[in-house]
Amino acid sequence: MIVLGIETTCDETAAAVVERPLAGHGRILSNIVLSQVNEHAAFGGVVPEIAARAHVEAIDMVIAKAIALVSEKPLMAVNHLEAHALSARLTNDVPFPYCLFLASGGHTQIVAVIGVGLYVRLGTTLDDAIGEAFDKTAKLLGLGYPGGPQVEKEAVKGNPTRFMLPRPMAGRPHADFSLSGLKTALRLEAEKIAPLRDEDVRDLCASFQQAIVDVIADRLRAGLRMFHEQHGKPSALVAAGGVAANEAIRKVLQRLAFESGTLLVVPPAELCTDNGAMIAWAGAERLALGLTDALDAKPHARWPLADVTRPPPEPPPAAPPAPDTGSDG
Ligand code: KG4
Ligand code: ZN
Repeated sequence: MIVLGIETTCDETAAAVVERPLAGHGRILSNIVLSQVNEHAAFGGVVPEIAARAHVEAIDMVIAKAIALVSEKPLMAVNHLEAHALSARLTNDVPFPYCLFLASGGHTQIVAVIGVGLYVRLGTTLDDAIGEAFDKTAKLLGLGYPGGPQVEKEAVKGNPTRFMLPRPMAGRPHADFSLSGLKTALRLEAEKIAPLRDEDVRDLCASFQQAIVDVIADRLRAGLRMFHEQHGKPSALVAAGGVAANEAIRKVLQRLAFESGTLLVVPPAELCTDNGAMIAWAGAERLALGLTDALDAKPHARWPLADVTRPPPEPPPAAPPAPDTGSDG
């Protein structure tokens, strides 16, 4: 009998696999404890809310290893961004290299995906992520969370030209984003006309969304230019992250792909937002190349894409066979 036990009473997240033979004492096959002391140290005691969150964050890692160990299966520690980057290949036949536009609540990146484990970041945000900007706009205007879908719903009914908002970074040769100035400008416009009527909220949302669309067009155009210069023609422009659900943004991505002579690939919404299938798929892509991890693989709070393990370089082509000098033919 082999049983997995999970312990989360206080400030340790622990899991173990124990074997109970028909006779004799038991045997520990795996016993993993992740301590939360650092999280609670500043408060001089265990804070239940912090403990609960830390358990949720740690439990997958702890159990994943136990399952791998007991079932004698390889473990792949998957980088979250890598999973977003590869998810398009789960549903579509997208060969490498392609250009990824990842826009979620925590990330805004333009990445050249050269192969499994081979990622070159072309652009990133210097401050807020695009999804975060949508969420903050929604909060400012008294709309619900998550803000993206609410802002989009209001925006379609509003006037996108009523408020003059900046397009930060427009025309810069690099492909980085900056959104905090846009956020501030929106707040100032809203304060000028407070209290806000429904129509004001709709127009603010529409003007904000139009600014974001323009920013994406400009920054991604720069990113695609860098891609062409450094890596040749991308097989596709791939969008990922919750923001890719936005219709106006999809439309501009479609236009950009067309302009640069490539196709737009957007995985279905349930694969664009965070999901388990993308983790499994990235694991499968790594497993196919033999890129497995040891059971002592550690979770990383910050894990840039450039730091994931990559496949070993291809061996140099074999030297051509020496000319046949034999005399028998
Ligand atoms: O990828 P995701 O589900 O979770 C992570 O952040 O990892 O992305 C969620 C983000 C939120 O910020 C949400 O407001 C945004 O995606 N989002 C949208 C839309 N739907 C979700 N932003 C703009 N328009 C939408 N329709
Ligand atoms: Zn994500």
